[in-house]
Amino acid sequence: MQRLAWRWRRRGVPIGFVPTMGYLHAGHVSLMNRARRHVRGAGKVVVSIYVNPTQFGPGEDFARYPRDLKRDEKLCRTAGVDVLFVLSDREMYPDDETGDASTYVVEEKLSRGLEGAARPTHFRGVTTVVAKLFNLVLPNAAVFGAKDYQQALIVNRMVRDLHFPVRIQVAPTWREPDGLAISSRNKYLSAEERRQAVVLWEAIQLARRSVRDGPVSAARLKRQVARLVRAKPAARLDYVEFIAPGTLQPVRPVKRGDQMALAVFIGKTRLIDNGRLA
Ligand code: PAJ
Repeated sequence: MQRLAWRWRRRGVPIGFVPTMGYLHAGHVSLMNRARRHVRGAGKVVVSIYVNPTQFGPGEDFARYPRDLKRDEKLCRTAGVDVLFVLSDREMYPDDETGDASTYVVEEKLSRGLEGAARPTHFRGVTTVVAKLFNLVLPNAAVFGAKDYQQALIVNRMVRDLHFPVRIQVAPTWREPDGLAISSRNKYLSAEERRQAVVLWEAIQLARRSVRDGPVSAARLKRQVARLVRAKPAARLDYVEFIAPGTLQPVRPVKRGDQMALAVFIGKTRLIDNGRLA
């Protein structure tokens, strides 16, 4: 991969990159299209698939994370992807087959709250694997989804702090018609759970409505969201936070332009979503 990327870069061919964990869906495709637009006709689009063990905590869904390489290949071909880069654990972590690494890349400010608080080693795994992938694919630009808002901010921060010569782009969240953010993990949901999973989107809309007429108390808004989630029998709120976009610092009161992020268990499946309270 690196040799090929060097050849392209030497010839001035730009590389647009979309890192994924596979089980690709319309959200991933929108990132591929964004990468294609960035490099135009003459450039190359690379998609990687790697279910990265170091970003899963103990007891999380690493072993059963959905995989379907045949389908992913087809989807990438249809989307006009130039290279589908699929790695094994042995290639990604050569001396550390145990799922542990020796060298990590760690972002220490934006990683603390939200997903970082709920999943303490998650972002260390993400920044490490993304840094490795950038060194293998040598992209001019890499596209991340706003669906994982905190992840996109952290990767952006890593790139700035470590001077990676990569432009980070963030593409909007792709949703099902009822508002549920598309995610590979939606596959885990039973039909009834799938119906109740719309509660994350309903919570974002509730918050949007609440701040429309002026600032509101964060505590009160959190209680309203908790009540909404409690009304769905399969749902259990993990966290809901109102934060300043960019810094992820909690805000109170909450006003238009602030960011909301939440994680909800639907049965055993943990889903996240976020949105700007515009
Ligand atoms: P994965 O969950 O496969 O997501 C790959 C990329 O697709 C991420 O940038 C994610 O934000 C984006 N994405 C997922 N669902 C989306 C949706 N509904 N709309 C728009 N974009 C969406 O995120 C990861 O993998 C991993 O952490 C990775 C960055 C690959 C590192 O292992």
